[in-house]
Amino acid sequence: MDKFKKLKLNRESPEHLYTQLYNLIKNLIINNNLKTHEKLPPIRKLADLLGVNNITVVKAYNLLESNNYVYKRIGSGTYVSSIEKDIAPRNINVLQDEAYEDISLMDRGQIEVKENMINFASATPTPQLFPVSDFKEVLNEVLDRDKGMAFGYQESKGYFPLRQYIVEYLDFYKINTAVENIQIISGAQQGIDVIAKALLRHGDTVIVESPTYTGAIAIFESRGVKMVQVPMTKDGIDLNILEKYIDKYNPKLIYTMPNFQNPTGYSYSLETKRELLELVNRKKVLIVEDDYLTDLNFYTDDNLTLKSMDKHEDVVYIKSFSKIFMPGLRLGFLIVPMNLNDQILIAKQTSDISTSGLIQRAFDLYLRKGIWRKHITYMKKIYKERFDIMVESLEKNLPKDTTYLKPLGGINFWIKLSNGFSASELYSQSINRDIVFIPGGVFYPEDIDSNCFRLSIADVYPADIRKGIEKLCETIKDYYKKSNIGFERKSTYRPIL
Ligand SMILES: Cc1ncc(COP(=O)(O)O)c(C=O)c1O
Repeated sequence: MDKFKKLKLNRESPEHLYTQLYNLIKNLIINNNLKTHEKLPPIRKLADLLGVNNITVVKAYNLLESNNYVYKRIGSGTYVSSIEKDIAPRNINVLQDEAYEDISLMDRGQIEVKENMINFASATPTPQLFPVSDFKEVLNEVLDRDKGMAFGYQESKGYFPLRQYIVEYLDFYKINTAVENIQIISGAQQGIDVIAKALLRHGDTVIVESPTYTGAIAIFESRGVKMVQVPMTKDGIDLNILEKYIDKYNPKLIYTMPNFQNPTGYSYSLETKRELLELVNRKKVLIVEDDYLTDLNFYTDDNLTLKSMDKHEDVVYIKSFSKIFMPGLRLGFLIVPMNLNDQILIAKQTSDISTSGLIQRAFDLYLRKGIWRKHITYMKKIYKERFDIMVESLEKNLPKDTTYLKPLGGINFWIKLSNGFSASELYSQSINRDIVFIPGGVFYPEDIDSNCFRLSIADVYPADIRKGIEKLCETIKDYYKKSNIGFERKSTYRPIL
């Protein structure tokens, strides 16, 4: 009880007392002041101790439970959870202002990169790789061919010839679908938003991989949807925990990135893909598959999408063209199960009426001319070169106790610092040496830090990858040395989930 006596609630603050209490107890857990399976005080006792209503404590405990910091035993009480996760408290006091501002911006999906910096943070392709002249040609052809029609409102479902051609294009990816199931969207980000708008209500629960894509976190948060996190393993989402959480939380959907996940770069094994589909079919839960990168399979042929294996229409598939073509097109598509078609169409229509007709027509022509295959081959070659140089540089320079699992393709690497070290603190030091990356805490729904961080090769040339990784690894070594306890920090941080 002593630990709880010290908790200070600020009655002048506009923040609810129960969320203040939630944050205070969460920090006790993260800081290892409360041990795994330790019992929290009974509700009435804690309420008396802090001079608040019982309901304030009940709400704080419920919030801790829904974020998996604690679990309840019926008739017995509330206990601290134990599942492993690489998180740590975000200690803003130790960060320079500049680093703190950068990380807050990353939470909102942005990064400010100064001219001389080596940018391992953005996962957006170098603009020099975009197929500009091919696109100029198809744009001119469309303008000559369609004239004013190219600038009219387009059908909300999408330009029909493009949807038709996408069905053919999907043959290449072993996905069998019909034109009625194709919904054009203005980028995958809108795809996730439209799905959330159509299918989720305030207070619903979704399951996300942990860590997961920041843009998806922002959408679910904005709709007041609870996110339950299931850890990513090197073979994909942890199916045992997933099954337990489906039973416990009755989620509306599971948001996944089965190939070269963002941020870890890990892929689901074929076995995990099969078992996941079997599980969701048995439990009647919808999967959202965000396919933002399947094409970049450098060291595996096992890059089948869940959609290509989906026999029962359990998957809504989202395709982004941003990493492989051009993010500025703001174009992608969904494959929607028949029974959700109308809801999704209405949500899309109320978002932006339709995706740009001009861009859809130009992209249709671009696909039909077959240029896309040549371009994907080109992008694969460029990215594979960067990928190999990245692996070589990491192998050569990463200090002891700093680890990563080599992905089999894609653009992201998930690096783990020695236990107890903070990726945000490292960030704070590495910007002084003109290196930027994304600290791992950004990829979790809570406001936390992590000892992991994401390096992306999308916007870095080979020579800069070599130079940047060398400098970054020097920075890590200096950071470890400064801590003067040796490589393993004592128990400031510990797994809690
Ligand atoms: C996993 C994931 N999904 C969706 C998006 C958004 O893609 P788009 O540019 O197609 O909206 C991104 C962008 O980085 C992403 O990484």
